[in-house]
Amino acid sequence: MAEKKLDDLFLDTLKDIYYAERKILKALPKMAKAAQSPELKAAFEKHEDETEGQVERLQKVFEILGKKARGKVCPAIDGIIEEGEEIMDEFKGSPALDAGLVSAAQAVEHYEITRYGTLKRWAQELGMQDAARLLAQTLAEESKTDEALTGIADAVANQKAKKAA
Ligand SMILES: [Fe+2]
Ligand SMILES: [Fe+2]
Repeated sequence: MAEKKLDDLFLDTLKDIYYAERKILKALPKMAKAAQSPELKAAFEKHEDETEGQVERLQKVFEILGKKARGKVCPAIDGIIEEGEEIMDEFKGSPALDAGLVSAAQAVEHYEITRYGTLKRWAQELGMQDAARLLAQTLAEESKTDEALTGIADAVANQKAKKAA
């Protein structure tokens, strides 16, 4: 068996996040549709647009590596998205729905932040500055999204969740 090194790990993790981003791209319109408050709906729609750009950045990183853009099943994101779907089902029409949607979305963002943080550092370590820059751009978007979601939770969703319908 060949000895696997950091570049193998990098490619493997790139495939993982490529799979994840495309799953997220499918989940975001459903979350936007489910969201009750206009703020949360708008946040999901904005992030859907950003996510399209993030998928394109990943394709550029594959290009830099001279590899075909391919995903690899990521059970972690499948599970996180499944939990979000559970919340949509179980809290449908209830005042706590948006708070639940924010929590599900933040779980997604945190997963992405850990992946992009690792990939950015590995790209730097491997001397791939252009790839590192692309990954850093997405990392910044994910962090901003996470912060925006915290803002919506504080300003809207959590208050509503405490009140009667
Ligand atoms: Fe993303
Ligand atoms: Fe994201």
